[in-house]
Amino acid sequence: MPKPFRSHACSALPDAPGRCGNRSLPRVTLAGWFRPGEAHTLRSAPEGAVPEPPANATAGKEVKMPFPITPRLVGRRTLGMAAASLTLGRVSGPATAQQSATPPATPRQTTGPFYPVDWSGDADADLVRVAGAEAQALGAVTHLRGRVLDARGRPVEGALVEIWQCDANGLYRHPNDRPGTRDAGFQGRGRAAVGPDGGFAFRTIRPVAYPGRTPHIHVAVATPGRSQPLVTQLYVEGEPLNERDRQFNALRDPREREAVLMRLQPADRIEPGALLATRDIVLG
Ligand SMILES: [Fe+2]
Repeated sequence: MPKPFRSHACSALPDAPGRCGNRSLPRVTLAGWFRPGEAHTLRSAPEGAVPEPPANATAGKEVKMPFPITPRLVGRRTLGMAAASLTLGRVSGPATAQQSATPPATPRQTTGPFYPVDWSGDADADLVRVAGAEAQALGAVTHLRGRVLDARGRPVEGALVEIWQCDANGLYRHPNDRPGTRDAGFQGRGRAAVGPDGGFAFRTIRPVAYPGRTPHIHVAVATPGRSQPLVTQLYVEGEPLNERDRQFNALRDPREREAVLMRLQPADRIEPGALLATRDIVLG
């Protein structure tokens, strides 16, 4: 069964030169920041460590995603564009108002010890299907959607979004994770370039807990002109384990906590039985 999505993000990366048919895509990558063996604070910080100081939170009103979001299943090469239309394109009025608001900045969180070391092969925006795998991922299919915005609520063009998370068995696609049976049907990591209005979309699973951590999805956002990516973690709103999670509780400001919470809702209109998780990423 073919994957229902295809993102053009993978072919926009410098590590896949010459395969990008869209010359307008920026040559943005996170690879430069997470080069194997390169020492830097983000990568070396352990999962349970106190995170780096958060980006300056900006006072103001939270930007809300329009809902219901009723995307069409689109070709994976157009996923970024589809995400854009889902988040802003159909509601130009509200979007204009949102862009004029000043949203709180997404706080930085630690990269953790399991940043993917291998981005070769299938690393697109659909983490539920792995090319060549017989079965799709275990777990609850979840569509993660949002926008990359600047501190004034304006879409950031040219951003590249990466996510990584453990599989339904609580294991990362990383050689240093604990022993166990990893779900071969889960891609573990994915990349997507945002659309013209900053929109991104991933098809993944609802994050699950593993020893010591509440469910979360790691996110890194690279943007042209910024020397460092924004690295953060997204959490499930209403998840009881959040209250005991060291990383989540390192965020003292309620606005910062709000800025990393995903609201999960049934999303049968997108895909039967699936969930929709929405969260904008706001660069400080
Ligand atoms: Fe983690």
